Parts: sequence; structure tokens; C-alpha cells
Amino acid sequence: MKGTAVARANIAFIKYWGNLNDDLRLPMNGSISMTLDRLRTVTTVEFSPALAEDEIEVDGEEPSPAAKARIVAHLDRLRTLAGKPLKAQVVSVNDFPTGVGLASSASGFAALTLAAAAALEMELEDRELSLLARLGSGSATRSIWGGYVEWVAGAKHEDSFASQIAPPEHWEICDCIALVSTEAKEVASSEGHKLAQSSPLYSARLSQVREDLDRVREAILIRDFESLGSVAERETLSLHAIMMTSQPSLLYWTPATVRVMKEVRNWREEGRSVYFTIDAGPNVHLLTLPPYVGEIERALGEVEGVKQVIVCRPGQGARLIEEHLF
Ligand code: PMV
Repeated sequence: MKGTAVARANIAFIKYWGNLNDDLRLPMNGSISMTLDRLRTVTTVEFSPALAEDEIEVDGEEPSPAAKARIVAHLDRLRTLAGKPLKAQVVSVNDFPTGVGLASSASGFAALTLAAAAALEMELEDRELSLLARLGSGSATRSIWGGYVEWVAGAKHEDSFASQIAPPEHWEICDCIALVSTEAKEVASSEGHKLAQSSPLYSARLSQVREDLDRVREAILIRDFESLGSVAERETLSLHAIMMTSQPSLLYWTPATVRVMKEVRNWREEGRSVYFTIDAGPNVHLLTLPPYVGEIERALGEVEGVKQVIVCRPGQGARLIEEHLF
């Protein structure tokens, strides 16, 4: 009763922020993302009658009590559904720093869902895996799929899942991630979602998002980079306006975040196709096309405060693999 899965992070062009139902992680709005080829999590899960407790290790360490409780709650959902009340050993490895706004919960819960479902011998379709992954972490619902992915909000559990708009080969958008901090963020996104509706700007954001979802889906289908990038950049500013005007206020940016944002606009004025998007953290994702990647990577390396640049391209969805971690 052992399964191992690999899943990747994703970057949202239209972002999920705020829940209709916190327990079910039913979002207030739909979202659209690109699954990345790097930023991977590999997770092995083994259920065994010999275990008295769940044993969990992430990146070689026991997770914090809160992180552990979230993983155990997810295992509980899956073993209840499978009708197999056995404890599990879980070993998970990320090839990137966790808790810095690089979507480790997306790749983490997508890999955990697939590995645990395989270990429990559940035969689930991708749609069901996407629904279940959502209960662990909202953005994980999208990481089940590769390429360009839309999560339709849905008003109830069975209706809130992601599906693929286009496969990774459809279009080579590059995400140059400017890492300006590798410290754990102060407020996790699951807490941030609960504050969203305290912002007086939230209803304006929701009506904008509805229009932007159509624009971004269309831009992906016809490969219109300027349309995709300009909507994504305004969309991330709308998200951060909500965060900043929530009560209490969330401010994820650092001076280096703003320096990178300003440079992106300078580079665009100089004729490069590049736009920024930022999740719940200080790191900046630069969306661009293959001809600009080399020069953007070099230029980013010279911006004060940029510690590392990780270049990602569209990647595959979650998959089972043969090599177990233990
Ligand atoms: O899945 P969560 O709860 O970590 O929330 C993700 C929030 C954002 O990354 C800011 C937006 C998104 O859609 O990925």
C-alpha cells in the first residue's frame, strides 16, 4: 500500500483569493494558471497496520504542528473515502524553498493526494483528484493538470475543480522567478483568504476578475502574450490592493519586490515583452517569451536584492512514479 507521486507548482495569471467556504476551500472566484516545469515535490505515502500514528517528514524534518495537522487532515479525508482506517508514513521532498510564496502547498498537496490515493488503491479520475487536492490547498486543485489550467469556482464541493485549457506544448511562456527572500512568509495564504472580504475593495475585484477570466482564457487559446501579460499584471496589483486594505492589513512586498516591478516596466518601455505577477509573498514572477529569457535573467541578476533567478516553462501535471523515497 505504497504510492509515489511528483507534482509541480503553478503560477496563476488570475488568482484565487478569498473563500465562499473556508472548510471546503470553495473559492469566491475562478482562477487560471500555468503549471511550471520546475519547483517539484516528490511524495511517497505508505499505509500500514503496523503504524500507531502518522509519521510525516518534509524536506528531512518533522513539519510544524500546524503543517502536520493539515497533512493529517488530508490523509483522514482520503482514508475515510477509501474505507481504510490505516496510519501512514509520508516522506516529501521539494526541490525549492518552502513557505516563501513559491506555491509549495500547490505541488505538495497535489503530490500528496495522488500518492495517497494510489497507496489506498483508489481509482480516481483527474477531475476527482483535483476536487480532493483542493481540500488540502486551493491552488493544488490546478497542479493536478499540466500546461494551462482553469479552476472553475463552483458553488459546492462537486463543482469546484480544475481542468486543462491547453497542454504545455501549446505555448512556451517563460516564468523567470526573481527570488528576493527565502524566509518563511509571516501570514500563510490560508489565513490571508479569511481576511480578503474585510477589504472594502473586494467586490470591485470580483467583478473585474469575472471579465479577466474570459480575457486570459482567450489570450491563451490565441497565444496573445500582450493581452495575457497586461491582464495578469493588473490582476496581481488588484490582489495586493486587497491584501494591503484587509483588516489586519497584509503587506508582502519588500523594497526589492518594488525594485523588480519598476525594472519590468522600464524593460517593457525599452521594447521587451515582460510582465510581472506576485503571489502571497515578496518574490516576483516575470512572465516573458523565449527570445527575452536570456537578457531578462542577466538583467535580473543585477537588480539589488535579487538573490536567485529560477527560470520555469510550462510543465506536466501530477504523475505517479515508480521510484519510492523509502
Ligand atoms: O492555495 P493557497 O491557499 O496557497 O492560495 C494561493 C493564493 C495565491 O497564490 C496568491 C493565488 C493563486 O491562485 O495561486
